[in-house]
Amino acid sequence: MTQLDERDMTEATERAAAAASRGEASYRADPYPVYGCLRDTAPVCRLSPPHGVETYLITRYDDAKAALTDPRISKDMYAAMDAYHTIFGDSSVALDDNMLFSDPPKHTRLRRIVNSAFSPRRIESLRPRIQQVTDELLSRCSGSAPIDLLSSFAFPLPLIVICELIGIPEEERDDAQKRCATVARTGFSKADKEKLAVAEGALRDYFVELIARKRKNATDDLLSDLIRTQDEQGAMNDGELLSTLWVLLFAGHKTTAYLIGNAVYNLLNHRDQLRDVMADPELLPNAIEEIIRFEGSVENATFRHALEDITIRDTVIPKGSLVQVAVASANRDPEKFESPDTFDIRRKGLQSAHLGFGSGAHYCLGAPLARMEMRIALTSLFERFPNIELADPAAETAWLKVPFPAFRGLEKLPVILEPAQTRGV
Ligand code: HEM
Repeated sequence: MTQLDERDMTEATERAAAAASRGEASYRADPYPVYGCLRDTAPVCRLSPPHGVETYLITRYDDAKAALTDPRISKDMYAAMDAYHTIFGDSSVALDDNMLFSDPPKHTRLRRIVNSAFSPRRIESLRPRIQQVTDELLSRCSGSAPIDLLSSFAFPLPLIVICELIGIPEEERDDAQKRCATVARTGFSKADKEKLAVAEGALRDYFVELIARKRKNATDDLLSDLIRTQDEQGAMNDGELLSTLWVLLFAGHKTTAYLIGNAVYNLLNHRDQLRDVMADPELLPNAIEEIIRFEGSVENATFRHALEDITIRDTVIPKGSLVQVAVASANRDPEKFESPDTFDIRRKGLQSAHLGFGSGAHYCLGAPLARMEMRIALTSLFERFPNIELADPAAETAWLKVPFPAFRGLEKLPVILEPAQTRGV
């Protein structure tokens, strides 16, 4: 390599690292060139994010997969309280005392308690109800005027399903969802942290009250089962129960909602492949895996931290640093996936390869539910509205703009379900 190449390379890396650190608008609109540059030039890249804690971003597939299962890279938030407080303030601790923020053996214990509720067999039994909810939502959506598919369909579907599964009554769901939205969207400024604290406090109070109510009057739902298990076997303390409800509610609807949006958006932009899926529904399961690889709704796995100095490639991640695994980058790594920037619903060997549901002990608990919701949502939407189109294909795509990306998704997705010319108008 020439001197000039090296200098260009360093500048490109610095630009990419700065874009990722600051969450620049162009990076949020299209993060893949930044990830491509980092994979090539700084695959374990030190970032200085707005939350103020030194973070190492891992962008290559092999490193990402290894990091997700490396016992030296911990998920236990209690072992990194200083960093945790700096990023989120005090209010999050009560909500995050759950499997997602713990290591074995605590993680194993907490996950085992809810595992059976999310087994493929139990999830299969939800199919008729998920279909019914989908049909009801779509029947309220028809028309030739533009509608936002996210707020009218993609969000309500998984929200209703997870709330029914947990046992959150219908009239209380809107408030719960609004508070989840605040938690997901706050940044790291003082004002943001104050907003976060209010939303988290309200959620905590709500869950405490809901648990007390179900303890008095058990119903046929997961929360009542968890309370029974807690009372009979002492398997979870009160804080862990509350936090488990939170992680199920939060992880159980946002991820799937954004993925429905990403799926519809990408299929409408690859109309030939959409036609193939509609002609041959057997292609759908693989199409969904390709969507999760190509534009999954989780861009970065949740925070981890180094329990000791760890060397990956030539970079030392000092003990105590935060580690983020850029799942979206790993899923576009050309060393793992041929022509990774091409959307191809017939791509082979996807399900066990992409990292869109994570890997290892924290592999997504809700993957069977998410896959079923996706299949039902997409099949029903495209069967009922085969001519659906983007309301304004020339408009700028409204990708989420949160500076430090956890989710990859759309703010809104304006579509026309029944375009006038196909209805003969
Ligand atoms: C398309 C939808 C979904 C995607 C893309 C997704 C993605 C992920 C990913 C990447 C992780 C690993 C996080 C990490 O290691 O840092 C994860 C964990 C998790 N997901 Fe999902 N998820 C989805 C849907 C769901 C649903 C429907 C639920 C319902 C309950 C759920 C519950 C969880 C839970 C509880 C964990 C933590 C598991 C653990 O720590 O052992 N997810 N998910």
